[in-house]
Amino acid sequence: MSQPDLLSERPTDRLPAALECRQLRKAYGSRTVLRGIDLRLGAGEYVAIMGESGVGKSTLLNLIAGLDAAEGGDLLIDGIAVDALDDAAATLLRRRKLGFIFQAFHLLPDLSLLQNVALPLLLNGLPMARAGEMLAAVGLAGREDDFPRQLSGGEMQRVAIARALVHRPRLLLADEPTGNLDPETADEILGLLKSEIRASGAAAVIVTHSPVAAASADRVLLLTRDGLRERERQALREA
Ligand SMILES: Nc1ncnc2c1ncn2[C@@H]1O[C@H](COP(=O)(O)OP(=O)(O)OP(=O)(O)O)[C@@H](O)[C@H]1O
Ligand SMILES: [Mg+2]
Repeated sequence: MSQPDLLSERPTDRLPAALECRQLRKAYGSRTVLRGIDLRLGAGEYVAIMGESGVGKSTLLNLIAGLDAAEGGDLLIDGIAVDALDDAAATLLRRRKLGFIFQAFHLLPDLSLLQNVALPLLLNGLPMARAGEMLAAVGLAGREDDFPRQLSGGEMQRVAIARALVHRPRLLLADEPTGNLDPETADEILGLLKSEIRASGAAAVIVTHSPVAAASADRVLLLTRDGLRERERQALREA
């Protein structure tokens, strides 16, 4: 038997998969939206999901996030089977291991920028100092006491990126994170998002309609009525 090559082993190789979906299914009434989704993300892996409107991309993210319940299949986050946990434990797992970014930002209007970013730290009982550091990392140093209404769309998404990564989640979920931004701002935010994901070591699932956004991912997957499959790079360049 050959010996394992310890020198070429990366530190992340021994970590459990950040996410594993096995035959995940979802229907609304009699209408099946997701039929048997298989998806595995290694530690730190950055994956883009594309697909026609209405095919179930947001539904898939919502199942992973616990915002909606699957009809069947298995979901593992950081190697832990979510189904084996009671509701409280599943909520704690997601609170600690996941970060979210939405198209519509979803900042809390009555909290300052610093308070918005500090929220995941507060909820997880983690030291608060990183909130200010993250705000500075996304280019908003000095704006700590401002409120979301005082920001542009791009600035709001910067705050959302800081909030999604401040507690060093294992997995970031982003649903069309640049969908509400003009093309120039979208490119800028995408670059920032990718560098902050890399810096934090999180794996990421980014849902996007933008071929440019998808091209920056490690892998691009296409969701169709039949399931999730690798999208060829060639097809991406032609899109
Ligand atoms: N709460 C719900 N009740 C009933 N049907 C729903 C619900 N949520 C989503 N759907 C349906 O499930 C399908 C998938 O919706 P989903 O929002 O996941 O699509 P999507 O791929 O994210 O589309 P888009 O690119 O437009 O955001 C749609 O046909 C939608 O109407
Ligand atoms: Mg959607």
